Amino acid sequence: MLSETDARARGLADLPEVQSDLLLQLIALCNADPRPEKIDVGVGVFRDGHGNTPILKVIKEAERILLETQETKSYLGSAGDKRFAELLRPVLLGEHADDDRIAGLQTPGGCGALRLGFELIATVNPNARVLVGTPTWPNHAPIIRAVGLQMIEYPYYDRDACSIRFDAMVAALKEARAGDVVLLHGCCHNPTGADLDDGQWAEVAPIIAERGLLPFVDIAYQGFGRGLDEDARGLRGLLSACDEVIAAQSCDKNFSVYRDRVGSLFVKTGSTDTTARAMAHVGQRAREMWSMPPDHGAAAVRIVLDTPKLRQRWPGELAAMRDRINSVRQRIASADPRLAYIGNQFGMFSMLPLSRDQVLALRERHAIYMADSGRFNVVGLSDAQVDRFTAAVVEALDA
Ligand code: LMR
Repeated sequence: MLSETDARARGLADLPEVQSDLLLQLIALCNADPRPEKIDVGVGVFRDGHGNTPILKVIKEAERILLETQETKSYLGSAGDKRFAELLRPVLLGEHADDDRIAGLQTPGGCGALRLGFELIATVNPNARVLVGTPTWPNHAPIIRAVGLQMIEYPYYDRDACSIRFDAMVAALKEARAGDVVLLHGCCHNPTGADLDDGQWAEVAPIIAERGLLPFVDIAYQGFGRGLDEDARGLRGLLSACDEVIAAQSCDKNFSVYRDRVGSLFVKTGSTDTTARAMAHVGQRAREMWSMPPDHGAAAVRIVLDTPKLRQRWPGELAAMRDRINSVRQRIASADPRLAYIGNQFGMFSMLPLSRDQVLALRERHAIYMADSGRFNVVGLSDAQVDRFTAAVVEALDA
């Protein structure tokens, strides 16, 4: 017999409360703060020395070309813009660009690529476990759980020593079971800024290959760390070592097209036939979730990569963003020996050794908005804000 409660039809009013994403909450909190001196080092967007997130000149030019030449907005299909994915191959895959066991398709941002990659894994192996080094991007866990996969955490970063716990990482990989998935940050680790160096990648890749693990590389900041090729070396090493590799790529940052949501998913398997089958599944999952990715941003990126004079100019604009990131890092690092580690890290993020209460006190007293974890967007700071920010952080560290 059904109880009265079970029998009652459930309506939307029965929905439980949901804890909304903390980073998105932080954007709203910061926007609502009326203090003109507020400092937003929360969500990861590049800002120039004046605190603006400009549209790249190559993208503006590509959009002009798009406006003048686009003749139809008819559907492209669930793989999106195929030429876009083709032109990304040398950028992302380097020496593996011509490997026909690797196929890629356009996705709505890196987040869409992650979801799609995990959907593929759940389709073939619903019992796969996903090894995740902590801390990681706060949206990784919800995406992995959403597809029903189990997550196994291992400690990646030591907050007190401000360095990678490489031994713990290697130990976790050596304990993993064949078929387990290893989620790795390709470069510019989010949230710590602590990347594996070339030697560490070279150590990790054969362990992954020998143990039959599936590496899944999240590469959302290519070009923001050391350079376009340098930042992809870890991924390319895995492509050399392993038969099966998945990569979720994003152009949102390195082409500065954030809200246009431009990304791609690349899949390598042991044979062209298997890759074709995997991509058929991926296309079907994409069709179920978003049918087709939005076109505009990917079309603009495609035009940049397909137009020699724009293709030549893009690395320069990217280098200017990277140089600013690194110069802000050096300014912060030189302010206090306890912040020196920030000068040796990569990409937009680093973590401060602050408690949640200290982070909240910085918000309250100094209108400084960073994630509760102590993660801050280095390049969220305008040139004029760097000294005030570091002074407030040093004061918090001294307290
Ligand atoms: C971030 O971590 O701030 C970015 O990747 C933006 C996001 O979607 O969370």
